[in-house]
Amino acid sequence: MELGLHDKVCVVTAASKGIGYAIAAELLREGAYVVICSRDRERIARAAATLEAETGRPVALALEADVSQREAIQRLVAEVERRFDRVHALVLNAGGPPSGPFASFSDEAWEQAFRTNLLSAVRLVREFLPLLRRAGGARIVAVASSSVKEPIPGLALSNVMRAGVQGLMKTLAVELGPEGILVNTLCPGRIATDRLRELDEARAAREGRSREAVQREMEGAIPLGRYGTPGEFARVAAFLLSEANTYVTGQTLLIDGGLVKAF
Ligand SMILES: NC(=O)c1ccc[n+]([C@@H]2O[C@H](COP(=O)([O-])OP(=O)(O)OC[C@H]3O[C@@H](n4cnc5c(N)ncnc54)[C@H](OP(=O)(O)O)[C@@H]3O)[C@@H](O)[C@H]2O)c1
Repeated sequence: MELGLHDKVCVVTAASKGIGYAIAAELLREGAYVVICSRDRERIARAAATLEAETGRPVALALEADVSQREAIQRLVAEVERRFDRVHALVLNAGGPPSGPFASFSDEAWEQAFRTNLLSAVRLVREFLPLLRRAGGARIVAVASSSVKEPIPGLALSNVMRAGVQGLMKTLAVELGPEGILVNTLCPGRIATDRLRELDEARAAREGRSREAVQREMEGAIPLGRYGTPGEFARVAAFLLSEANTYVTGQTLLIDGGLVKAF
């Protein structure tokens, strides 16, 4: 299938590793101009070098931007606008909040999770909207979590913020649909990244088990019998972000190997 991403301008936030990195790699392979960012100048520069080596395509811009900060988002948008006059595809991604029991989270922890995982999406869409509109039919994909269908024990901060993201994306799909802007939410179940490893390690420590034992149990609950790869996630994202996607909007899609049993 021709995705029509060649020479399209795509922005992927939180892309120095994991899911964001894999989406950036997939978009580069399709011939897009890809802008990536993360909180750390050196990590994002290293990621850009690895992406270029892996895909044989240059990364258009690799910028330091903490998406939990309004000024950082405004600087990111300004940098993108200096180089490009429009943005065809925007991926809303950020690092996940800490795990732990509900009673362990202070107001500060809730506020930080709100800024990182919900307000960042609001601000990114708002600030990029003029550039997205100029593309005439842009695509937006938010990376959320399977918790939008089934909250995950020990992840109260994430469970609450992802539900908000889903509400935001559905609202935007309705509001921006008449302008031809397609908006969807992609939800990882268990995708093998550092984040998942850290969550498994935290659970293993809490339960006095090995990380491998936790992973085996988790994989046992997945009908496909294994964790997914970031590349498997990225291929679905690339389709939704592409011109090949002409009629899918306002949807929440789980990429979870069948983990969540709810409709
Ligand atoms: N992996 C899974 O199975 C899974 C399941 C459910 C939900 N999710 C969610 O999906 C998202 C991506 O997960 P992942 O597994 O790819 O995580 P990951 O491997 O930990 O990667 C997180 C990425 O986000 C960047 N980052 C973190 N905070 C940031 C911020 N405030 N501003 C800009 N960049 C930031 C990190 O780079 P720097 O450190 O360089 O900033 C890194 O590149 C997370 O929100 C995660 O909670 C993942």
